[in-house]
Amino acid sequence: MIKLFSLLVASLILVIIALGSGAYNMAATEKHWGITEKIIEWVRESSIEARTKDLQVPQLDNAEILLKGAEHYHAMCTACHLAPGMSPTELSTGLYPQAPVFHQREAINDQAEKQHLAKKYFWVIKNGLKMTAMPAWGLSHDDHSIWATTAFVLKMRKMTQEEYENFIHSAEDQEHHHDHNGHSH
Ligand code: HEC
Repeated sequence: MIKLFSLLVASLILVIIALGSGAYNMAATEKHWGITEKIIEWVRESSIEARTKDLQVPQLDNAEILLKGAEHYHAMCTACHLAPGMSPTELSTGLYPQAPVFHQREAINDQAEKQHLAKKYFWVIKNGLKMTAMPAWGLSHDDHSIWATTAFVLKMRKMTQEEYENFIHSAEDQEHHHDHNGHSH
């Protein structure tokens, strides 16, 4: 028993010395081992699952919320997550882990799966993710804006360039309209 314990302590010390000597490569160009990736994924999924169980998803499939989401997405997310018709950016190319490209994902028809994903996306957009470049937008945006962005991200699956541009143009038109009503200039 004591022998086993000493062996464990000795191995732990060796690991600490190895890490302190710089043996581990923190470079973003050096991929994780398969096992490390699986562990990170499991920790991330469990963490998000535990924190989103009780979230109430509002009505996401209406024109107003989608336009608001399109406007936010276009302004804040494309540098990393890209958009239909857009080439990879210098920023998106250098990321590790890579940011998912939402419009290349398969559309979801199952309503329950959509709700589940909406909760997860809302939480990630609001709180960000440690040790990735995903920022916490909840520090600068209210929940309504974040649900709107969530709605648009879900809507983007399999979206064409034309559909995307229509959304952005309509969102810009609406913005101008508000300006004329709201301000005198
Ligand atoms: C600086 C780069 C960057 C910006 C800007 C950014 N993201 Fe991310 N985002 C990431 C990265 C990297 C990941 C992947 C993290 C991972 O693999 O765990 C991510 C993950 C996500 C996820 C989780 C996806 C999944 O399948 O689990 C969502 C949702 C998301 N981002 C939405 C957004 C939205 C919406 C915006 C704009 C408001 C945004 N992101 C802006 C880098 C960024």
